[in-house]
Amino acid sequence: MIELDNLDLTLSSQAGPVHILRGLSLTIDAGETVSVVGPSGSGKSSMMMVVGGLERPSGGRVTVAGHNLGGMSEDALATFRRDNVGIVFQDFHLIPTMTALENVAIPLEFAGRRDAFERAAECLRQVGLGERLSHYPGQLSGGEQQRTALARAFAAEPKLLLADEPTGNLDGATGQHVMQLLFDLCRQDGTTLVLITHDEDIAARCARRVQLVDGRILDDGHATRAAAEHAAGAR
Ligand SMILES: Nc1ncnc2c1ncn2[C@@H]1O[C@H](COP(=O)(O)OP(=O)(O)OP(=O)(O)O)[C@@H](O)[C@H]1O
Ligand SMILES: [Mg+2]
Repeated sequence: MIELDNLDLTLSSQAGPVHILRGLSLTIDAGETVSVVGPSGSGKSSMMMVVGGLERPSGGRVTVAGHNLGGMSEDALATFRRDNVGIVFQDFHLIPTMTALENVAIPLEFAGRRDAFERAAECLRQVGLGERLSHYPGQLSGGEQQRTALARAFAAEPKLLLADEPTGNLDGATGQHVMQLLFDLCRQDGTTLVLITHDEDIAARCARRVQLVDGRILDDGHATRAAAEHAAGAR
């Protein structure tokens, strides 16, 4: 589903170029659930942007769902995302002038779904926002915006779901509920899940755990081992 081959990403900043991803290679098969962990600034969100076709790498190859993203135009990338990928951004990226319902429904409408608004309402109910359909993002709490972003990401039943700290703004109980929903949906639909998180308990629920440090993969292992280490650390 995802093949990253010797990926490099350098972006310019006022202080000069920042070398963010440094020769990162990773293969993720269809249907895998993979957590991505690592310190703040290690390149997790940047890697997600490259996989989602939102950032072009400075070097290396990116293949997602059989598409080599390197040779694609911006239009082709937009179509690729629409048809294959659901993305939950760390900072939500909701459209402020659209209600929660419209934020979820409009992309479905663009994708040609006739039941866009019914489907959007159903997804928002699933994340506990049935009473907030006509609220604008500015009228939603951080956690409610996050759940709206999540509903938008899974509404189209994408083959690949990229979620960047999807429970970072949720309380324990709501976070648990939303994670359960996400894992159930992925299992049911065979969705490939790439989940960025700082929460080792959430990471342990994925079958595989990839650890990034300084734009490289430090460790790539099975979650059972990660969970055991986590448990050992907690003792
Ligand atoms: N547009 C940009 N221009 C220049 N540098 C950037 C840009 N975006 C990110 N960076 C830098 O790249 C590095 C990696 O950022 P990234 O957002 O991928 O980290 P992260 O692992 O997601 O961190 P966090 O856990 O805090 O979300 C950081 O040092 C950041 O300052
Ligand atoms: Mg990040």
